[in-house]
Amino acid sequence: CGIVGYVGTEDAKEILLRGLEKLEYRGYDSAGLAIVNEEGVHVYKEKGRIATLREVVDSSEDGQIGIGHTRWATHGVPSQLNAHPHQSANRRYTIVHNGVIENYAQLQKEYLQDVALASDTDTEIIVQLVERFANEGLNTEAAFRKTLSLLKGSYATALLDNEDAETIYVGKNKSPLLVGLADGVNVVASDAMAMLQVTNEFVELMDKEIVVVTRESVTIKDLDGTVTSRDSYIAELDASDIEKGTYPHYMLKEIDEQPYVIRNIISKYKTEDETIKLDEDIRQAMLGADRIYIIAAGTSNHAGLVGKQLIERIANKPVEVHIASEFLYNMPIVSEKPLFIFISQSGETADSRGVLVNVKEMGHKALTITNVPGSTLSREADYTLHTYAGPEIAVASTKAYTAQMAVLAILAVDTARAAGIDMNFDPLQELAIVANAMEVLTDQKEKMEQIARDYLSVTRNCFFIGRAADYFVCLEGALKLKEISYIQAEGFAGGELKHGTIALIEEGTPVIGLATQEHVNLSIRGNMKEVVARGASPCMISMEGLNDEDDQLVIPKVHEYLTPLVTVIPLQLLSYYAALHRECDVDKPRNLAKSVTVE
Ligand code: G6P
Repeated sequence: CGIVGYVGTEDAKEILLRGLEKLEYRGYDSAGLAIVNEEGVHVYKEKGRIATLREVVDSSEDGQIGIGHTRWATHGVPSQLNAHPHQSANRRYTIVHNGVIENYAQLQKEYLQDVALASDTDTEIIVQLVERFANEGLNTEAAFRKTLSLLKGSYATALLDNEDAETIYVGKNKSPLLVGLADGVNVVASDAMAMLQVTNEFVELMDKEIVVVTRESVTIKDLDGTVTSRDSYIAELDASDIEKGTYPHYMLKEIDEQPYVIRNIISKYKTEDETIKLDEDIRQAMLGADRIYIIAAGTSNHAGLVGKQLIERIANKPVEVHIASEFLYNMPIVSEKPLFIFISQSGETADSRGVLVNVKEMGHKALTITNVPGSTLSREADYTLHTYAGPEIAVASTKAYTAQMAVLAILAVDTARAAGIDMNFDPLQELAIVANAMEVLTDQKEKMEQIARDYLSVTRNCFFIGRAADYFVCLEGALKLKEISYIQAEGFAGGELKHGTIALIEEGTPVIGLATQEHVNLSIRGNMKEVVARGASPCMISMEGLNDEDDQLVIPKVHEYLTPLVTVIPLQLLSYYAALHRECDVDKPRNLAKSVTVE
């Protein structure tokens, strides 16, 4: 979910709607906003997208203070009733909330037995409690602080008091929240992007803090009411980076940006004498670790699998890759001197943050590889490596994935060099070759569109097979296809499909094979023959030098360590065109959110 708040001198509803449009990537099953003016509070909420909300908001509604929300449902189905803002029984207070309140049922029993709740959400408990404590004589700020101190779970929340058209109260625990500062105007947002329209100067909030925000002041306090101060920072984001330009979808724009992203990474990590520029601290942390634990979710986890191979092959260090949401429940025996690497495009994924908090408590060191320095995972880790991909807006991750792998390759080589390992691999030079190969592929959109039409426009399922590094890309290719085209897709290790899943192959089932690894080229081709013999419709994507005559697509030759950065491009484009042909919403697929800030 995403939240915004505005108190200033302009038309709050328009600024809130624009802010919500920028936050829509965080969830888009319902949305709402509330404005306070002399007549009191006005709440609008709708199931569906921000565009739907925009249609119902009264354009003559005046007001210079308000809060807004875009939702990714956790408690309660997506509906108008469960959409935020929520209000207290007497409608004095109005709230928006991102997060999950774990003890809401208990709080309801303890404090709110006599209150009829209007929704199925955990959020409503917060606003009802504030009103309860205000009725008992506390002022709004004290009632808000008392309420937050009772909550267990995660929240980023903003509260309006309809008796006070001057103040927004905000609070945070675990979920991200920023306060933006400008002259006579202050704003609140889950992500700086939402409020770049007003300011680029922001203050971060820490867990269990509240902020009292008015036009003229921003006062940060802890839950006991003690005031703290914090310096602001300038968000280095360019508003034009978050526009689509002439592209029909963000996803296509972001796929096309990949060659530039890789070149940007090269320039950011290159010293004047053409070697790698990396913080000495990070180098020492890598050198000192006896084992690396990579923790990530979704696409970032797939980049982690490639990262493991790179670090093990290049720097000769053992690496384990774990799904963030499982790590704490299926914890491996951690080595004596571990280094934890968190890979996260957004730097906000709650599952990864849960692990980070735990391993820090255990006294371990952590490095975050992220596209958003200043994000929660970046702030809370000991070290950060920036992926420099620029804002990624489409829910399906593309350029962040290739950027993560490029940075992992650089990290692996830096570690190897520092350890005195001899190798014949210059990552900066090889990445430059990768960028060119990416361009060759992004220039072949018509061909990709045709392959997508031939193989994916009517099928109900699709399989991806590959061996070695290709296997990891198959997992990512299948995830992309599932996410945006809703075709049931699975990525398999070439040798594994026959151990069960081959039962699903029918006449015409598309099987996409990757063949870029010389040492397994014959065996993956053998696996392809096995499925063809059972009626599958084969689409082979191979690399120059390893290709057969009838392969559907041949990618330019790149170093075998870096093939995933290139093979994924056609898979991204195939997913994109499959989704288009099936008339799916490419940038905002159903049920998903780009940044999942609940566990
Ligand atoms: C969400 C997104 C995925 C993404 C994953 C991890 O589930 O829908 O596309 O890969 O989160 O996100 P992160 O920001 O941590 O890389």
